[in-house]
Amino acid sequence: MSSSSPMPSGFPLEPSAHEMRKWIEEAAAKIIPYVDSLPDQPVTNGLKRDSFLKKIREPIPRQATELSELLTTIFDELLPVGINLPSAGYLAYIPVGGLFHTAIAEFVTTSINRWPGLYKFCPGFIEIEKTVIAWLNEMMGMPKTAGGILTSGGSLANFGGMVTARSEKLGEELANGVIYCSDQAHHSVLKAAVLAGISRKNVRKIKSDQQFRIPPEVLKSMIQSDLEQKLKPFLIVASAGTTNTGAIDPLDELAEIAKHHGLWFHVDAAWAGAFRMTKNGKQMMKGIEEADSITFDPHKALFLPFGSGALLVRDMNALKRAHSFEADYLPSENSDDFDQLDPSQVSPELSRTVRGLQVWLPMKMLGIQPFIDCLEEKLELTRFVTEELRSISGVEVIAEPQTAIVAFRYGASSGDLNALNQKLLDQINQDGSILLSGTMLHGKFAIRVVPFGHRTHRKHVEMALNLIKSAIANVSH
Ligand SMILES: Cc1ncc(COP(=O)(O)O)c(C=O)c1O
Repeated sequence: MSSSSPMPSGFPLEPSAHEMRKWIEEAAAKIIPYVDSLPDQPVTNGLKRDSFLKKIREPIPRQATELSELLTTIFDELLPVGINLPSAGYLAYIPVGGLFHTAIAEFVTTSINRWPGLYKFCPGFIEIEKTVIAWLNEMMGMPKTAGGILTSGGSLANFGGMVTARSEKLGEELANGVIYCSDQAHHSVLKAAVLAGISRKNVRKIKSDQQFRIPPEVLKSMIQSDLEQKLKPFLIVASAGTTNTGAIDPLDELAEIAKHHGLWFHVDAAWAGAFRMTKNGKQMMKGIEEADSITFDPHKALFLPFGSGALLVRDMNALKRAHSFEADYLPSENSDDFDQLDPSQVSPELSRTVRGLQVWLPMKMLGIQPFIDCLEEKLELTRFVTEELRSISGVEVIAEPQTAIVAFRYGASSGDLNALNQKLLDQINQDGSILLSGTMLHGKFAIRVVPFGHRTHRKHVEMALNLIKSAIANVSH
């Protein structure tokens, strides 16, 4: 370095130990009270973005700004706006609470910044990822030989499952490949199919039955009809916990059909898969252990923060055949020995963040029992809210809970019930302490209650019921 270089003294890209300590303290002073108050924070504050947008939209900064000032902008101006998904009153869509333990894991991984793309760069964290994958496979009843890869979430896990199924069953001949899923499958399944080069017209969205599950007989006759037309059925995607109603497809029967026709069997258990660990879980999820691949998201199912999904596969060779590439500038592919497999050989990613620690740290710090207790609580809250809803005159439970979602609507059968229930939902949500969501179920607008966040307890569900009752009293006058 030439003597005229300003870099060696006070190199601003490399903070001193003193600065690092100071920043951590400043960040902790904001983060800890914020997270501590999350259970009592409102779930919505409106969407008045004007004030913070003025602060955020600016030219590339030429001057340095103190961290403390930036933290104030983040916590005091940005965060109060929008939908507060980790708060206890969020009973909409699929809640993702975010255990704080994982924040520590992410702080460690981003601070030290090791690269888990190739085994030899980061064997410790890759072994942790493999251990986590083994735990998740055990939760799902998969064999000890099963493997997988941690992803950023469920959409990418569904995509990985799709690509692997395509590679195993179709090779390069994609044109006639046909996929079967229900009309309740998560939209990431269709997206994955299209991204994987499967024609939209070859994705059969089977009309679900009264319990929002795939009717096996309909599936069988569709496969038969496609075979007669010289098409190539190759994949069944089942749901173990749909996003709409938490329905679980008849997994054992679908697995049997897949086996009979030689199709790949993928189960999307993104958010509800962990219920297999509960008292009645093995019965609830019967057949999931027959899957060729499973989507399981710790960032939903195990209450972790966003960024933690998993694709579990029965046969690692299949995952590898679908994803493995070589390049002159990379070390030559390590043998068939999965012991030291490079994650980049079983994933679309080369650069990736360390993901295993996000799951490993909270599970090691807590042990598995608190997770199981929390899952049992969610099932119990859902049973409770369903019974209470049933006791309200005029309420119809449209989707009986199979996991931790109940969907209902209000009103006599005459009149525009869809409009009435949309109005009801708007009134319930107006208060800001609770957020419910709506959906269309077989043509009926229904209101969903999803008491799945780890911060959501009996008192929050009671608050929701009170808001539902007063909104009903309002709309019926
Ligand atoms: C059943 C199911 N599958 C897949 C996904 C997509 O997961 P992600 O949002 O992590 O990409 C979701 C999201 O809620 C889901 O509920």
